[in-house]
Amino acid sequence: MQRNISIQHPNRSFLETTRIDNWWVGPLLTSIGLLAFIFYSTWAAFQNEHYQWGPYLSPFYAPLLEFEWWPLSPAFLILWAPAGFRFTCYYYRKAYYRSFFLTPSACAVGARPQKYRGERFLLVFQNLHRYFLYIALIFCVILSYDAIVSFSFENGLGVGVGSIIMTLNAVFLTAFTLGCNSLRHLVGGNVDCYSCASFGHQRYQAWKFVSLFNVHHNFWAWISLFWVGFTDLYIRLVSMNIITDYRIL
Ligand code: FES
Repeated sequence: MQRNISIQHPNRSFLETTRIDNWWVGPLLTSIGLLAFIFYSTWAAFQNEHYQWGPYLSPFYAPLLEFEWWPLSPAFLILWAPAGFRFTCYYYRKAYYRSFFLTPSACAVGARPQKYRGERFLLVFQNLHRYFLYIALIFCVILSYDAIVSFSFENGLGVGVGSIIMTLNAVFLTAFTLGCNSLRHLVGGNVDCYSCASFGHQRYQAWKFVSLFNVHHNFWAWISLFWVGFTDLYIRLVSMNIITDYRIL
């Protein structure tokens, strides 16, 4: 039987609220941030050049998949995975439901009129999050490897500004991934009693560890999003000879 339930607050029209604070600032900044990243990453993916310099490789093009049979930018073979991971993330879902769909845009603010017709389309796709998590864990390893390689220059080991930027990129992405709610469930969920379960103590410790990152999941979501774009931009500008990569050591 099809459900057709109105989920709008019965006494509140669209955007109506008694709040007197600047509740709209959060959704507005979220929209600007997400749109800026979507536009930049799409533009960078279409460029298909300036994604490598010395030991540096842009995270938008990692791992390097240059195939003769693939006519487009190799970034398109990569970006669907991190994009799917972020798009289905529980934090980002809240962010874009509030800032783009306005359902509602903030607590105690009237939502855009809508009907709930059961779990379909986007809601079904969002269930794929746990599978995107498995791929994201692989990306954490790949980007960490690239970060290590970034210290290996033609004339030997060294530390460039780009090495530090790439290392921070791997750290931020790993912190974001470790705080994933699906990972918490994977390592510590599905048990009623840790002391009765096999490897219960180890699972509890692992659950406590990943929960440390989950507490500030939104912070890691934003810093890792900003930093991955910044890392691509830095390598792009160095590769185009617009800026110089300074060697610290
Ligand atoms: S819940 Fe945000 S990455 Fe999984």
